[in-house]
Amino acid sequence: MPVKKMDVSCLVACTAALSLGLVHCASTPGAAPEDPTGPREAPPAAAGTIAPAGPRAPMNADPPPGPDTPRTSYLPVEDKEPFAAVVARMKAEKPAVMKRHQTLLDERYDLSNRPAQGVTMSRGKPVQAGVRVKLPKGTTWEGLAALTPDAIREQGLWPRGFLPLPHANHPEGGMVFPKFHIDELKRQTARDLTRFDLDFDLPDHVISEFPAPIYLTTRPDLGDVSRGQLVTIDNFYEIFNGILTPKQLEGLRLLVTPFPQMQFNATADRRSERASLGVACFDCHANGHTNNAFHLVGDTRPQEFRHRVDTPTLRGVNIQRLFGSQRALKTVEDFTEFEQRAAYFDGDIVIAVKKGINILDRGHQVHAMSEFQEILDFPPAPKLAVDGRLDPAKATPEELRGEQVFHGKGRCGTCHVAPYYTDNLMHNLRAERFFKPELINGRMATADGPIKTFPLRGIKDSPPYLHDGRLLTLEDTVEFFNLVLGTKLTAQEKADLTAFLRVL
Ligand code: HEC
Ligand code: HEC
Repeated sequence: MPVKKMDVSCLVACTAALSLGLVHCASTPGAAPEDPTGPREAPPAAAGTIAPAGPRAPMNADPPPGPDTPRTSYLPVEDKEPFAAVVARMKAEKPAVMKRHQTLLDERYDLSNRPAQGVTMSRGKPVQAGVRVKLPKGTTWEGLAALTPDAIREQGLWPRGFLPLPHANHPEGGMVFPKFHIDELKRQTARDLTRFDLDFDLPDHVISEFPAPIYLTTRPDLGDVSRGQLVTIDNFYEIFNGILTPKQLEGLRLLVTPFPQMQFNATADRRSERASLGVACFDCHANGHTNNAFHLVGDTRPQEFRHRVDTPTLRGVNIQRLFGSQRALKTVEDFTEFEQRAAYFDGDIVIAVKKGINILDRGHQVHAMSEFQEILDFPPAPKLAVDGRLDPAKATPEELRGEQVFHGKGRCGTCHVAPYYTDNLMHNLRAERFFKPELINGRMATADGPIKTFPLRGIKDSPPYLHDGRLLTLEDTVEFFNLVLGTKLTAQEKADLTAFLRVL
């Protein structure tokens, strides 16, 4: 696998060549890194095919793929390096890996802590203000909006933060949890989700609040039922006994119970120092919402085409009809059943058997887990009327103008349909019209394809935005869609639109 076999000098060379893919460096041992000033496109991808002998998927030690390595969808099964050696090597590589990724984040975003005035997430965490994606030198948002997609692509003016966001170590991939979650879980349950090779990448202030409040469709009278705690195997019974049915309680128990997964399991092929029981659904969908743990989707090969995926909230899955950004599973039951069978193991059914696949009983366990997920409500939106539109008696003039822009000139409402602000479909935004394909830190920035229209109800509670979390604020999403849709909004219209998004 690429990263493991790459020495640090190679990594540093790669880091220096910012736009260069780690994969190239790793997959051609001894070869000089590609000229960073060379053409940015990747001809094979541009031509609609994939590169030959894409990087061998991660996890197990294996020779780095060379020009003659046959392309494969499978991961190596046997362990080829003693576990202690893997730990030592990857720990030594970690600072350079994290530094390379931090350089990318700093290049793309303003990561500073600048809370917006007069608005918070549902339990009080500040919402971040302002556009955070950095503009290419010498450009303005108005200037970009005046150009055609072709002109932006040809002049290389697409803001880097609008490109797909790579995983913190894309060639390696896997689940990565924020430190505050790891700490709280250790405190409550002595289970450790620390990876020895990687840390969470985004600062706490740009992600969702923790622990998130929990609202139940069945007991709106109770408001937030979380008691301000992270719900785990340790406390779920005490918190929920008496307000859930026995079936829902059983479902919740399974949602906080760990099961083996790719990086966290009991084999030597793992990324935790000690053998692990695995991960629980609520280790990512913390309190039925999200802690923004990220992962690579299981449904794509080779590795550099896999999307980073930011954990979506489970609030409001009851009104949705498609699940997964691209998988388009049709029910919560299906997603619940198949998540552990396949996504936990990067879509590799062979490895799943090796590491301890846990097959849930459909009629009993999947059913109970889904029933609990189905009662997770969106957070309260006191300014919305029963049809999901603004109540004019409660909204400000700015919010009301924003609603007009949303449904009118901004065209947001064609896909984000009230009352939940989703059409329950997928759309292909074709952002690739604006840039040339490019391998960046092991991630091929290219067409995303059709993606589910995520609902905008409660959207201020779940930054960062888009399936990979590439946009940090609602202002960023307004600039993104203004270019993607070619709507040429004025500064005032953008501000109004943001004000409206904050009350949904
Ligand atoms: C890495 C942390 C992680 C864990 C653990 C996890 N999920 Fe997810 N979940 C995700 C991500 C990321 C997605 C988005 C996947 C995609 O876009 O294809 C997702 C998507 C979903 C969805 C669809 C949501 C939507 O809006 O389309 C459901 C339902 C879901 N997960 C339930 C579960 C259940 C049930 C479990 C436990 C069996 C679980 N998840 C475990 C991260 C996680
Ligand atoms: C053609 C359909 C379409 C239109 C029009 C549209 N969107 Fe979206 N929107 C989507 C899709 C599809 C996604 C998911 C994209 C992704 O995750 O990569 C999305 C995602 C979002 C998100 C992030 C959701 C999340 O959970 O991360 C926000 C915010 C958003 N849209 C706001 C807007 C605004 C504001 C407008 C109008 C200026 C708009 N959208 C117009 C289809 C659309």
